[in-house]
Amino acid sequence: MGPRWIKVAAIYFIIGISLGIFMSSTLQLNWASAHAHINLAGWVSVAIMGLIYSVYPAAGNNSLGRWHFWLYNIGLPFFFLSTFMVQIPDMLAFAHVFTFGGAGAMAAGLIVFVVNIFKNVNGRIVFKDN
Ligand code: HEM
Repeated sequence: MGPRWIKVAAIYFIIGISLGIFMSSTLQLNWASAHAHINLAGWVSVAIMGLIYSVYPAAGNNSLGRWHFWLYNIGLPFFFLSTFMVQIPDMLAFAHVFTFGGAGAMAAGLIVFVVNIFKNVNGRIVFKDN
């Protein structure tokens, strides 16, 4: 599972950085929250999860690891869309549906992640190629 997480993270890194460059060059700084969340909840957090699952493959390659992957990564794009939508007055009410739906799925995934960490991340680190 580790490499899959890291590939998803790299895509969010490109999107987050592109948005930062767009904001800098147009001075449309109202997208800063979307930019910060894409970089930190998308790139940084997802990459760290990928590194954890790469170092502890037993945690990634089980049903908890798969539930975590899908809950977090299905929730993430909806949550990110909501960080743009809250900046558009006409979309504010609708944005909250995306925030609670997306962030709710992410939060459920994170609960699974924490359970998985406590159950399957143990002292011994296994380094292997996949
Ligand atoms: C080419 C790279 C990047 C550019 C051009 C860029 C540009 C910007 C700009 C223009 C702002 C708004 C500043 C303001 O409102 O005064 C901002 C805010 C921010 N950026 Fe970036 N950024 C880049 C990369 C990153 C990365 C890699 C991260 C994190 C991993 C990051 C995290 C943040 C955070 C946390 C904020 C503050 C958001 C807020 O105050 O609401 N940025 N960035």
